[in-house]
Amino acid sequence: MESVPLSQWEISEVRTVGDLRGLRACVRAWKREGHRVGFVPTMGNLHAGHFSLVELARRHAGRVVASVFVNPTQFGPDEDYLRYPRTLAEDSVGLVEHNCDLLFAPSIDVMYPFGPDHALRIHVPDVGDTLEGAHRPGHFDGVATVVAKLFTMVEPDLAVFGQKDWQQLLVVRRLVRELDMPLEILAGPIVREPDGLAMSSRNRYLNGRQRARATELHATLQWMHDSFVEGHVLAAIEGAAMRRLQRAGFEPDYAVVRRAEDLGMPAEGERTGLMALGAARLGDTRLIDNLAFD
Ligand code: PAJ
Repeated sequence: MESVPLSQWEISEVRTVGDLRGLRACVRAWKREGHRVGFVPTMGNLHAGHFSLVELARRHAGRVVASVFVNPTQFGPDEDYLRYPRTLAEDSVGLVEHNCDLLFAPSIDVMYPFGPDHALRIHVPDVGDTLEGAHRPGHFDGVATVVAKLFTMVEPDLAVFGQKDWQQLLVVRRLVRELDMPLEILAGPIVREPDGLAMSSRNRYLNGRQRARATELHATLQWMHDSFVEGHVLAAIEGAAMRRLQRAGFEPDYAVVRRAEDLGMPAEGERTGLMALGAARLGDTRLIDNLAFD
């Protein structure tokens, strides 16, 4: 008989539940055993960025739950909800390899019993209204709603979000604070490809030529940082960054320097706690990225 490499036998899928009863039974049993439960919400098509959050959760919690749910309420009518990559079997294998204990993969009916078009909506003002909120109307209402529901369902002690979606992280922190949710929010650093492109499930939409150009988004944010350090005026830096992205073949939505804490405009002479944020389309693919200045 031909010998089969051991690894082939070892590959297995993570324990998966789709219903609330199964999820709660598992999480509550862990809590009774005294474990802290960490949670990593995702829309799947998992990559090293997602797995780094699972590992971060693992360092702070005895048990880790991840969720995969492509949330229809956070996509605009002309956005990529239908073509968003769905790769649950691969995701499941990856989660085992990164020591995730449970995958929650609910159906639309479990998540939205009245249907997504009739779902309750949570609006997070201020930090949710600018930048992504302005360019994707309703996006953060969908995010805040689904994250609130996921927290209620999973009942985690802590949840981990990526700094890649910095504004989303601020929206979630505001949500948790204002609804007095009893959990801690941790943030994981941006995981990048070797050429600087932030990892994203949407990168797989890029063709070869677009992929080669995509690195220019991060390079532009880096250039904004360097120009800021050299003392250039912010408005001039932002204008030049938009032109630089256009020259590289992007249709940019914004390239701005804001206060990292609340995305407010920096006051004159404000030098600390700032970051550059950018969003731009390459063909049909919309990419976002950010870079903290200190
Ligand atoms: P998704 O885009 O799948 O991202 C899930 C989590 O992974 C988010 O916290 C995101 O910031 C983080 N992430 C993505 N790419 C990353 C990278 N390159 N480095 C580090 N972290 C990264 O964000 C969502 O899903 C959804 O909006 C969700 C919160 C699940 C609500 O539907």
